[in-house]
Amino acid sequence: MLSESKLLHKPVMVEEVIRLINVHPGGFYLDCTLGCGGHSLAILEHSSPDGYLVGIDRDPVAIAIAEEILSQYKGRFTLILGNFVYLSELISKTGIDSFDGILFDLGVSSMQLEDPERGFSFSKDGPLDMRMDPNLSLTAHQIVNTFSLDELENIFKNLGEEPFAYKIARAIVEYREKKEIASTKELAEIVSSVVKRRGKIHPATRVFMALRIYINSELENLQKALNQAVSLLKSGGRLCVISYHSLEDRIVKKFFRESKEKIITKSVIKPTREEILTNRRARSARLRGLEKL
Ligand SMILES: C[S@@+](CC[C@H](N)C(=O)[O-])C[C@H]1O[C@@H](n2cnc3c(N)ncnc32)[C@H](O)[C@@H]1O
Repeated sequence: MLSESKLLHKPVMVEEVIRLINVHPGGFYLDCTLGCGGHSLAILEHSSPDGYLVGIDRDPVAIAIAEEILSQYKGRFTLILGNFVYLSELISKTGIDSFDGILFDLGVSSMQLEDPERGFSFSKDGPLDMRMDPNLSLTAHQIVNTFSLDELENIFKNLGEEPFAYKIARAIVEYREKKEIASTKELAEIVSSVVKRRGKIHPATRVFMALRIYINSELENLQKALNQAVSLLKSGGRLCVISYHSLEDRIVKKFFRESKEKIITKSVIKPTREEILTNRRARSARLRGLEKL
């Protein structure tokens, strides 16, 4: 499982993150989106021999994988299963009150995307699930089979910025009158039946993204977590956020602008061409950083 999962998620802009957070020995670091532990591994390495890391993820599978990946640094990290929307509360249980660096690497990991059973991807046939946290009650299956045309249209329009939101919502409602929508492939085919492919982008890309954001309350969680993160920073401590779509990046940019802290990324940092060539997932990544005064 170890080598497989290592291949399953390639961490994005690792060197840039390490530099921006200014990782150093003896520092305390918080990774709010542990995933498969790629960034955390680099943070532990660069803060050797005595830096300490707390890692959070709401997905128990991610926690189990990261535990294994980071095992060589046993004794220098604590992993917490939880939602970063409750950041202050989760951290209060660790006995650590402030950090030198905090990271959010938003969205889902390749490990989650690539597992057909999780239902995140239109390119893998699986059940319509899309929950990062298996304890959430709402799934994509419930949404596409029970939400009204208006509700579906709003989700696709507001969270997916999908120009054909109404057309897609109508196709879904018409389809389910005859048959329940059971799988990711079925949903992708419904979307493809009414929307043409735009360049290299699959017609269902925005619909899947919108459903995932809605189910996991991604934007609300981010909005509520940023303030908590800043209050957990030491003076001179740094917050880094990697976002993958404009709605997320807009929240981060606005929060940074309105904050009284120092913005350390005058313009947003994007991955190099070389990184994009070896990791397609990196292409939409945007990195922003803030230093607490
Ligand atoms: C892009 S991946 C992180 C990958 C990680 N940096 C690595 O190098 O492997 C995002 C992770 O954040 C987790 N996540 C997303 N929203 C979360 C939230 N509100 N609370 C806790 N974890 C969350 C997801 O479950 C996923 O594992």
